[in-house]
Amino acid sequence: MPLNPDSSTLIRSLRRIRSTSGNEYAKPFYKWAGGKTQLLHEFDLRFPQTLRTGALDRYVEPFIGGGAVFFFVMQLFPFRESVICDANEELVLTYQVIRQDVDALINLLKDFQSRYDALDEEGRKDLYLNVRSDLNGDRKGFDFSQYGTAWVERAAQLLFLNKTCFNGLFRVNSSGEFNVPFGKYRNPGIVHECNLRLVSALLQNTTILHGDFSRCLEYIDDQTFVYLDPPYRPLSASSSFTAYSRDGFSDQDQVRLKEFFDSVDRLAASVMLSNSDPRNEDPTDYFFDDLYQQYRIERVLAKRIINSNAEKRGAISEIIVMNYSE
Ligand SMILES: C[S@@+](CC[C@H](N)C(=O)[O-])C[C@H]1O[C@@H](n2cnc3c(N)ncnc32)[C@H](O)[C@@H]1O
Repeated sequence: MPLNPDSSTLIRSLRRIRSTSGNEYAKPFYKWAGGKTQLLHEFDLRFPQTLRTGALDRYVEPFIGGGAVFFFVMQLFPFRESVICDANEELVLTYQVIRQDVDALINLLKDFQSRYDALDEEGRKDLYLNVRSDLNGDRKGFDFSQYGTAWVERAAQLLFLNKTCFNGLFRVNSSGEFNVPFGKYRNPGIVHECNLRLVSALLQNTTILHGDFSRCLEYIDDQTFVYLDPPYRPLSASSSFTAYSRDGFSDQDQVRLKEFFDSVDRLAASVMLSNSDPRNEDPTDYFFDDLYQQYRIERVLAKRIINSNAEKRGAISEIIVMNYSE
């Protein structure tokens, strides 16, 4: 896990996790666009105090992605149960399989690992492209609504591709196809057995939902902590009200999410939201300041590649909105 030099709080927190779990703790199994690992230390300083006392016993994360925040808080604070959700069906499928069939999944991944290790580079690329084309070819007729053995096979394919693709990033195109090219790694670790088992154990008390974030509302009460990490608002299109992020999340969706935030607040749950700060690009763009004006808003620095132009890379600010004072 890459740590910032100023992340001593995070290091202390991770030690706390390690000391209770025998040196190992469950970590994200996919590298995910918009992953929040590098901001955990900032979040840790701003989580509600009531998390530490166990007064909040349910954790809800409606945009789970790679789950960096989920894995962190679930192992640091005494939550009794959790609810996670995402609109990406392949991702949700993988979480379900890790929870329900981790042994079978590990066996399939071990099989991939030995096939891959025995091949030269050209053979590895062929294997990669064959698995990718099987995965995409099966997608149309695949039943994402009914759990079955085909799910285990698909999760193994997804994890195999994720570990052997270029940049190791999970990415699908607008029609849901996995289109990342082959990555040339000498010894990619395809099976992370220990981590998958830790993740599986952690997911046993987790409700896993597929679909829109609004599905989570019925699981929220006054003893719940909610963390919201919606798709980033596209920085370059900040002046257009209809701007869509790569995930198809529009400004109208951001407004809908604010209404969800209000509903969560009315239920007396504690809620925290993070998003990109549009003022990084346009200092006059007060979109989130206006939208969340009745709540506590703080800005923190994040390192993010926001532009293919290298000059525009570097530290930019990220917004954190909270409905609690401490
Ligand atoms: C910024 S990412 C979350 C990253 C995550 N916090 C992490 O650390 O990896 C946003 C996620 O929202 C999901 N998403 C997009 N639209 C959604 C919607 N309407 N409801 C629920 N999830 C959605 C995307 O599939 C993506 O996984």
